[in-house]
Amino acid sequence: MLDRDVTLALAKRLLALYEAGTTEQAGESYRVPVAHYIDPARFALEIDRIFKRAPLPLALSCELREPNAFKAMDALGVPVLITRAPDGTVRAFLNVCRHRGAIVAAGGCGKARRFTCPYHGWVYDQAGRLAGVYGEEAFGPVDKESMGLTPLACEERHGFIFVTLRPGPGLDVDEWLGDLGPELAALDLGSWHVFDVREVEGPAWKVAYDGYLENYHFATLHKNSIFKENMSNLMAVDAYGPHQRVVFAKHTLPALRDTPESEWVPADHVGPVYTLFPCMAIAGAWRDTALVSQLFPGPTPERSRTVETFITRQPAVTEDDRRAAERTLDFLFTVVRDEDYPTGVGITQALTSGANTEFTFGRNELSLHHFHRWVDRLVAQE
Ligand code: FES
Ligand SMILES: [Fe+2]
Repeated sequence: MLDRDVTLALAKRLLALYEAGTTEQAGESYRVPVAHYIDPARFALEIDRIFKRAPLPLALSCELREPNAFKAMDALGVPVLITRAPDGTVRAFLNVCRHRGAIVAAGGCGKARRFTCPYHGWVYDQAGRLAGVYGEEAFGPVDKESMGLTPLACEERHGFIFVTLRPGPGLDVDEWLGDLGPELAALDLGSWHVFDVREVEGPAWKVAYDGYLENYHFATLHKNSIFKENMSNLMAVDAYGPHQRVVFAKHTLPALRDTPESEWVPADHVGPVYTLFPCMAIAGAWRDTALVSQLFPGPTPERSRTVETFITRQPAVTEDDRRAAERTLDFLFTVVRDEDYPTGVGITQALTSGANTEFTFGRNELSLHHFHRWVDRLVAQE
């Protein structure tokens, strides 16, 4: 659980902004060329220099909690297999057979000690070693040592499994997370429980990502949903390298003024969206539920896919637990699917209309300034 001092400070910060009738602001507005959202050459650079280079939180530890658990998935067209050995070690591989390239493990989570390729039956173990070649005598000798699944850099930290999609050494994950690491550790999401996983097709990836970073749109786009409980255009923003923590307030926040600070339960009134650059948003996590969104660009610049994993602090055991979790998830998922993403798809379709050559992010949209600056910075690095 996050230290109360942290949430208390944020509640005070938001209350002060609310009383001043403002929100946190950048010194000036910021402009981004609309071509940055849609240009194929730029998109290719983003994939190559950001998504293939960064440690991506491809799984939650609680998805592979047990020994022998695995997760097979597609990440930007790259088939990935993540395994947990009986000693707890987590490994990741290209989920691609070394014989003639079939996908080895079918998509999803499960438990297995061995993975048998469905095409000709070659068998790999949890460490990716080629453990068996069907009909080897007839096939001819195979150098098993060198024919294991191709390993990917993989590190488990703070309840997340970070994988680098390009084979080879990965970046240092602790350095990559910087000061956000200890806060993620305090959230202890690794001990939480997966309730359900859903997927939704979305717009150009940065259009979708932009939407997770600000609540300037709550009073309008989410007037009849999120805004019923949450304030609009009031946020506290902190950046940790490319990652951010954006904290929003409920309409109950002003009531804290009439309560002694020692009695405040700050997490009842303010809540975060953490973004783990470049592909994850974690909404909630200070109370008892969180919606973890994994955003995967492609296959073309104007498309993306989001995997929404709803996790709960306590396992949903009783029928009442399950119904309550289902209700919350349905509500949040509907907001994304029916409000945020259709708006984003509309934006994406109109990017080439000629209406805008640039978008202007207001001073209140400072988290978007930060995000796009980081994208630019990394795209510029060979
Ligand atoms: S492609 Fe996997 S065994 Fe042939
Ligand atoms: Fe939204």
